[in-house]
Amino acid sequence: MAVNLLLGLQWGDEGKGKIVDVLTKDYNIIARFQGGPNAGHTLEFDGIKHVLHTIPSGIFHDKAINLVGNGVVIDPVIFKKELDNLNKFNLDYKSKLLISRKAHLILPTHRILDAASEASKGKAKIGSTLKGIGPTYMDKTGRNGIRVGDLELNDWKERYRALANKHEAMIDFYDSKIEYDLTELENEFFEAVKVLKTLTFIDSEEYLHQAQKEGKTILAEGAQGSLLDIDFGTYPFVTSSNTTAAGACTGLGIAPNKIKDVFGIFKAYTTRVGSGPFPTELFDQDGETMAQVGHEFGATTGRPRRCGWLDLVALKYAVHVNGVTKLMMMKGDVLSGFNTLKICTAYKYQGKTITHLPYNIEPENVTPVYTEMKGWSEDLTGMTDPSQLPKELNEYISFLEKELETPITIVSVGPDRTQTIHR
Ligand code: GDP
Ligand code: IMO
Ligand code: MG
Repeated sequence: MAVNLLLGLQWGDEGKGKIVDVLTKDYNIIARFQGGPNAGHTLEFDGIKHVLHTIPSGIFHDKAINLVGNGVVIDPVIFKKELDNLNKFNLDYKSKLLISRKAHLILPTHRILDAASEASKGKAKIGSTLKGIGPTYMDKTGRNGIRVGDLELNDWKERYRALANKHEAMIDFYDSKIEYDLTELENEFFEAVKVLKTLTFIDSEEYLHQAQKEGKTILAEGAQGSLLDIDFGTYPFVTSSNTTAAGACTGLGIAPNKIKDVFGIFKAYTTRVGSGPFPTELFDQDGETMAQVGHEFGATTGRPRRCGWLDLVALKYAVHVNGVTKLMMMKGDVLSGFNTLKICTAYKYQGKTITHLPYNIEPENVTPVYTEMKGWSEDLTGMTDPSQLPKELNEYISFLEKELETPITIVSVGPDRTQTIHR
């Protein structure tokens, strides 16, 4: 049976959490495949807003199993806070939340190393979420990491100590003057590990293999966005995992030929949080309006998100790299009231006009070429049926479908579960 993927096509925060929650009723298993608590996935229903960081976005449904896959990095401290939040809603998560033994752990010293590395970079900093993501994936690929399954072994604390000692020497090397109380951080960490150990750890690749044999439906939930992918993103201003479709294969142990649909999510405009190039970024009133109407503040760090017009050059690239079969357009409601909308369809690059994403998209190399479209003024947030959508929005959608050669099957018109139009 089918495994479908859902992933972000821009620089993250496209609305993945909302759509996973909307789609969960059609799936037996929701599985996160990469990233960690750098993610902030927002869901809204019954007037309540929930933000998840590591836990998959299907957790609020009764039946679906939610799996944290091997490609994810887990900070027990943040995980415990997420569970505490679920407890407030009397959610019985124990029966439906599973964790891969092969997922790597974020240690307190990984977080400090992240901060020290960023401090040492000065102006060139990545703008990381400071959750220890980079150092944890470095230890994973460097073959030094500690995995969830290790917590079941007797000697894991010794292995922890050895790695933490090494990290302390590395932190000293950075000479970043970052103050920290490791004893306090470790107490918090060991307490959180105890809570983590009350959950079910599994050999998740085998579990998913069996599930597929039994005809179960699986939705793989991505974190971050394609332009933050370690290979295909705007390196070095990226995260440390493969956020693109291939990441679901390595992050869950799912074979490529088992994947059916790839759902690509994008905002009707573009946002980015953290540093790095962003060709269509706006520094004017239009950008301000997007930020204000769209409440563009990071769900994990609270930082303001940079805003700009839709970049079709980048979007096309993401559609190609991921093999997107269905598109979902989010936050169309935020563009209501703009007289004219701009879509970047090409870049002026080294004296030429190009329509592919080049190696280097720093502002000094790239000037966006825009196509203008008429905007709409109607408030979309109460609309529930495609027949209600304004003519200009339908033209915007048709233009994108033609350019991207992919159908837009969902148009989201507000943060709530119900504000979702299926086409
Ligand atoms: P994710 O990381 O991809 O899950 O996205 P985030 O949760 O970080 O950011 C998306 C933000 O937009 C959240 O605050 C959502 O509640 C909100 N949101 C999602 N879809 C829509 C939409 O269609 N319209 C509006 N106005 N807000 C939306
Ligand atoms: P979701 O899943 C938006 C960005 C950071 C920084 C860069 C590297 O909510 O879409 P990291 O902490 O990963 O080392 O930071 O990536 N970033 C995100 N931006 N949404 C996210 O996740 C992000 N996760 C990381 O801002 O620029
Ligand atoms: Mg987010």
